[in-house]
Amino acid sequence: MKRILLDCDPGIDDALAIALAHGSPELEVVGITTVAGNVGLERTTPNALSLTEFYGMDVPVARGADRPLLRAPDTASTVHGATGLGDVVLPTAKAEPDTRHAVDFIIDTVAASPGEISLVAVGPLTNVALALRKEPRLAEWVREFVVMGGSYTRGNLTPAAEFNIGADPEAAGVVFDAPWEPVMFGLDLTHQARATSEVRQRFVGLGKLQEELLSPCLDFYGSNRQYRDEGPAIHDACAVAHVIAPELFTTVRARVDVETSGRFTSGMTVTDFAPEAEHNALVATALQQRAFWDLLTEAFERVASS
Ligand code: BDR
Ligand code: CA
Repeated sequence: MKRILLDCDPGIDDALAIALAHGSPELEVVGITTVAGNVGLERTTPNALSLTEFYGMDVPVARGADRPLLRAPDTASTVHGATGLGDVVLPTAKAEPDTRHAVDFIIDTVAASPGEISLVAVGPLTNVALALRKEPRLAEWVREFVVMGGSYTRGNLTPAAEFNIGADPEAAGVVFDAPWEPVMFGLDLTHQARATSEVRQRFVGLGKLQEELLSPCLDFYGSNRQYRDEGPAIHDACAVAHVIAPELFTTVRARVDVETSGRFTSGMTVTDFAPEAEHNALVATALQQRAFWDLLTEAFERVASS
């Protein structure tokens, strides 16, 4: 069984990524850390706590950075709603966050089990960058580091930048410059994972999970103008799915550098697939869609019946 630590900013697709992780027998979720992103930290942390209770998870949630390293906070509340979960209102969680800051929680958890923890980041990379600055050996101690962020074509925050990278480009720069090999799930890949009406039909019958969370969340998420017609892209779950079943994805070695100073291109993940480039990342390019949705549906079924 793989042990996963999820750094996130719930967020609708973050909520689905947490459900996938919890419902997968191949994974043990050892912790969830929160960061400001889709909405502020004062929302992402309670959302993470409420989601874990709603799913029946017993897992620590540690609160992280409330703003990017250098820049003013930006949010994606037009896509995820003012609360981060569209129109869904979950009961307030009984549990309190872990007493440690997310940065210390990440370092402690990975240091306690070198080579065993899959660190997956699906929000802005502020916590991960701060953790690397505080404990550079994190880069060698993780089993793998998977990130939802970036793009090798176009962005969604700006024409050049994807949201998670564009929200804190300096942090992303620290993370991609560290001596590890991030597996990057950018928009080119995640836009292949769309919750079409056919996909959503498979969630019917999942009871409270479908009626109170999946359905209203996906209705809200899918109403965003970027997603009309094809269904919303379930970005963050792709990164979790890679930890469970890497064979579902095609990945290609590449050089990824984060633009931090461009007037129009700040937050761009400049990706060079040339064989002679000094590769520092594995970039996901293709997804086996049918098998991906099977994996998600089966995980959601387990969450719904637990
Ligand atoms: C990413 O940005 C957020 O809005 C989503 O949760 C996802 O992590 C997609 O660009
Ligand atoms: Ca996210």
